Amino acid sequence: MKAKILVARATFPDVIERLQQQFDVESNQDDKIFSAAELHEKMQGKDAVVITSSEKLSAEVIAANSHLKAICNVAVGYNNIDVAAATSAGIMVTNTPDVLNETTADYAWTLLMANARRVSESEHYLRAGKWKNWRFDQFLGADVHGATLGILGMGRIGQAIARRSMGFDMQVIYHNRSRLTPEQEAHANHARYVSKEELLRGADHLILVLPYSAQTHHIIGAAELALMKPSATLVNIARGGIVDDIALIAALREKRIASAGLDVYENEPALHPDFLTLSNVVLTPHIGSASEKTRRAMADCASANLVAALSGVQPPNLINPEVIQMK
Ligand code: GLV
Repeated sequence: MKAKILVARATFPDVIERLQQQFDVESNQDDKIFSAAELHEKMQGKDAVVITSSEKLSAEVIAANSHLKAICNVAVGYNNIDVAAATSAGIMVTNTPDVLNETTADYAWTLLMANARRVSESEHYLRAGKWKNWRFDQFLGADVHGATLGILGMGRIGQAIARRSMGFDMQVIYHNRSRLTPEQEAHANHARYVSKEELLRGADHLILVLPYSAQTHHIIGAAELALMKPSATLVNIARGGIVDDIALIAALREKRIASAGLDVYENEPALHPDFLTLSNVVLTPHIGSASEKTRRAMADCASANLVAALSGVQPPNLINPEVIQMK
């Protein structure tokens, strides 16, 4: 008998077709957004579930679905899943690391450049029919070349962002839980390890690339924003909740920092309405890894994890290997 799986969100049709060759698949190609209760109901009788970062699996939902063998997240971040609860229930949890590093690093640069050179703001002005005359001092932005790039969170994506700064002749400073090796620092455009405070004070352009956790909740709040240069730009491509959105809105409104580029928000997809009233912020709907090639690679990676988990083989991207040791 084929194992039963739930693919909770729409994906490429050929991914579903391939999974159907091995599994009894309940898909959701209409991409209905399930409530927690609907998701719980759909997981009944399933051996595994494939979810995205939008589906929240709390300790309670996981405890009520301890029959699952695997939860396969199609994302590198997994703060949407209570991993400790899954481990206690003996459920494998997997993610999709590495395949999205370069695409997400490209996107951090997209937001950095758009911010620094006021691309969204000037395009909105033009589309609104306000451009009547070319002006010498119109939409003056900040230089990227020669500037100091700050990176908070220097994992694989942070290092890929740093490497890209070589062509812009930038100095890179970073702060991270642990310092990189000298070889890694050299490869990341000779990134210099500094304290968090030095990072905030020194960066002309600051990019946040941290996973969300209780420790990183509001790691950028009013006090941190106050340390930044008034000319600085901020980019968050990581997770909502790392930044205190209300404090950021105040800093942007009062021009205590120049601008921000945000792909993620607290409580997304709802975003604080005040963001929409600000011209010095570029807002996109969590599309950091959204290239065709990378989204395919993520779907393939999640499928490989799923197939391994249901074949009794350790999945390549198992987050909680303790589950296997427990058996
Ligand atoms: C996207 O946000 C991811 O974690 O992959």
